[in-house]
Amino acid sequence: MTIITKLALAAGLATALSTAAFAQDLSGKVVGFSQIGSESGWRAAETSVTKQQAEERGVDLKFADAQQKQENQIKAIRGFIAQGVDAILVAPVVATGWDEVLTEAKEAEIPVVLLDRGVDASEDLYLTSVASDQVKEGRVAGQWLVDTVGTEECKIVELQGTVGSTPAINRKQGFEEAIAGHDNLSIIRSQTGDFTRSKGKEVMEGFIKAENGGADICAVYAHNDDMAVGAIQAIKDAGLKPGTDILVVSIDAVPDIFTAIAAGEANATVELTPNMAGPAFDALAAYLADGTEPEKFIITESKLYTSADDPQGEYDRRKGLGY
Ligand code: AHR
Repeated sequence: MTIITKLALAAGLATALSTAAFAQDLSGKVVGFSQIGSESGWRAAETSVTKQQAEERGVDLKFADAQQKQENQIKAIRGFIAQGVDAILVAPVVATGWDEVLTEAKEAEIPVVLLDRGVDASEDLYLTSVASDQVKEGRVAGQWLVDTVGTEECKIVELQGTVGSTPAINRKQGFEEAIAGHDNLSIIRSQTGDFTRSKGKEVMEGFIKAENGGADICAVYAHNDDMAVGAIQAIKDAGLKPGTDILVVSIDAVPDIFTAIAAGEANATVELTPNMAGPAFDALAAYLADGTEPEKFIITESKLYTSADDPQGEYDRRKGLGY
């Protein structure tokens, strides 16, 4: 047997053992997942990664799509409690209104893990929260714009996420913090586009109409890539060049924004990994095995990407991962 064959066999064995270890950790466990819906490309990627991660670990995942409605999420969580699942994952559409149902899960001794958004509720009502630092995401996007425009005057329009959701609240705050003290930058209009491409386009059309056909707008800051892609279409429809006449900065780093960056139609995005389930299942495996308490907040990275970061390669890499 050659050394290469031996190494390959050893690597194969190591992979098999680690897969088996994961499978052992959560195999046979039933986990309910209350997902918000499918408002964005990022959300769709998170759903498919969660299903993949569950399958790899032998988890029986009960998936419930809430169609953007908190009442559907609460109903789904109550259903999971009634079924006696081993754990619950929830991506909370808005921050408030969770105390009652989370208390019911706690009383039933079912650990709850929050995915990608936070809640305004007592921290002892959930096991852990796996999410990005959303204020930081806004700051990274804002700092990119500060550095890019230098001393030029720049009037910004903002497309906010879902009203009352933590990413909309925090990404707004972070961006405002970054541009504060730079008197040449100001947000002249700000409205929700509900994290969707169609509303992003519609709201941007309104901004363009109201601001001299878009001539007075220097940049659009969108709280997610899908709204940015909608805004890009609105800018083009108005006869302007996105990425040049109006700078475009957003958050998520989904494949479509890399297509736009490669075409020079978007300028920057801040990555939000769709793999929230991996760290969530790791935390659950340890907790269900021997009660190990995870960190209360598991924070994912927030990396900035621009045209200098091989947008075609980044697109291909994500597509290869099934996003
Ligand atoms: O909570 C994460 C946000 O929700 C993503 O940025 C957005 O695309 C999604 O719909």
